[in-house]
Amino acid sequence: MDKLVIEGGARLNGKIRVSGSKNAALPILMAGIMAENGVHISNVPDLKDIHTTTRLLSMLGCEVEYNPEKGRVFILPRRIIPEAPYDLVRTMRASVLCLGPLLGLLGQAKVAMPGCCAIGSRPVDMHLRALEQMGAEFELKDGYIIGRCSGLHGAHIQFDFPTVGGTENLIMAAATADGETVLENAAREPEVADLCNFLNCCGAKISGQGTSVLRITGKSRLCADARPEYAVMPDRIEAGTYMVAAGITNGELLLEQCPLKALDAVIFKLREMGLEITPENDGVRVGCSHPLCDVDVMTLPFPGFPTDMQAQIMALMTVSRGSGIIQETVFENRFMHALEMIRMGANIKLSGQNAMVRGVKRLKGAPVMASDLRASAGLVLAGLVAEGSTEVRRIYHLDRGYERMEEKLKLVGARIKRTEDK
Ligand code: UD1
Repeated sequence: MDKLVIEGGARLNGKIRVSGSKNAALPILMAGIMAENGVHISNVPDLKDIHTTTRLLSMLGCEVEYNPEKGRVFILPRRIIPEAPYDLVRTMRASVLCLGPLLGLLGQAKVAMPGCCAIGSRPVDMHLRALEQMGAEFELKDGYIIGRCSGLHGAHIQFDFPTVGGTENLIMAAATADGETVLENAAREPEVADLCNFLNCCGAKISGQGTSVLRITGKSRLCADARPEYAVMPDRIEAGTYMVAAGITNGELLLEQCPLKALDAVIFKLREMGLEITPENDGVRVGCSHPLCDVDVMTLPFPGFPTDMQAQIMALMTVSRGSGIIQETVFENRFMHALEMIRMGANIKLSGQNAMVRGVKRLKGAPVMASDLRASAGLVLAGLVAEGSTEVRRIYHLDRGYERMEEKLKLVGARIKRTEDK
């Protein structure tokens, strides 16, 4: 197992190219199951979750060519089988996204039930209830969700909460269902819109992307004669993380391929804290010439402040002037990083869904443990500003979602290295 060792205090300066979005690439790759004549997908990041997904697609019966250096994946469905085994699903919750395409295509699916994860229980009840409205029936057997239907039909679905994965599963199921499906209170995340754009590129008929009402007219076949090419959107969470890296080190970074529009809520808060964020021709320049001010943050579904940026902004708040409150409303247990930041000298008080962060003059390096993907990013950011050496352990979480993070940071001046954690 690897760890990252960071000597804090270096001011970051230079250019970072933002990679393709993990959370957009995962459902798009999964939707490849339905692309009858094959599909080329580009701007795919080289990440552990992407490798897991390509393995899953192969096991489900697709021919898959993945070139991680070029960020390209070719998917051609051959003889699709309906089973996603536990060994893969347990390493990546997003595997459950094959449920919609498999039911739509084969009328059956057997997908291991995703287990608990560090940030909360994360059930899939809303996915299943909505698929039932389209004609599917489910039973839970030996840890597997077993779904059956004799063809899915369009339905009018109202989500209790704008679930990202649930919306994506339903969009994929509805794309080949019989008739029109309307999804209300659908997730508005840019990654959901990217999936819709991809499917439309494959011949689907989806409108309303980016809004909370999606209309999907089912088509019996996708990519029947064409073999389209689609580029995945850039990763807004990776971009936001490097914005914080510029701010926390009092540095200046030019972020190339930065999805500015998708970052409105994040940029709003970072500017409130004193970061200067300026769109330029070749990217977005981020700097910080003043002491950081305090803010309050509430995580919400898009277009609100993303829960996936909560740990990173917490790191920034730990060294700001004054105090602020973070309210985490999306996941019930997403403050594990706070306990590790406290070990680095941060002043954070937790109470249920709230974290009160009082800025301190400096953080001190310490060995810390990453508990999930974004928590790891928050700890790396804290390490960049802490006095002395910080060791971030269990970085396999980071490798699931950040493409070559330590290389990118090193190139702009960070003192960071990956070593074996014995
Ligand atoms: C996706 C993202 C993740 C992000 C999250 C919220 C991917 C691969 N992952 O996760 O990075 O943090 O959106 O923006 O895109 N819930 C239920 N029942 C359900 C579905 C969800 O109770 O059937 C709850 C979850 O436990 C959670 C909340 O709803 O508390 C949000 O979950 P959801 O939007 O579905 O997130 P994911 O798709 O799992």
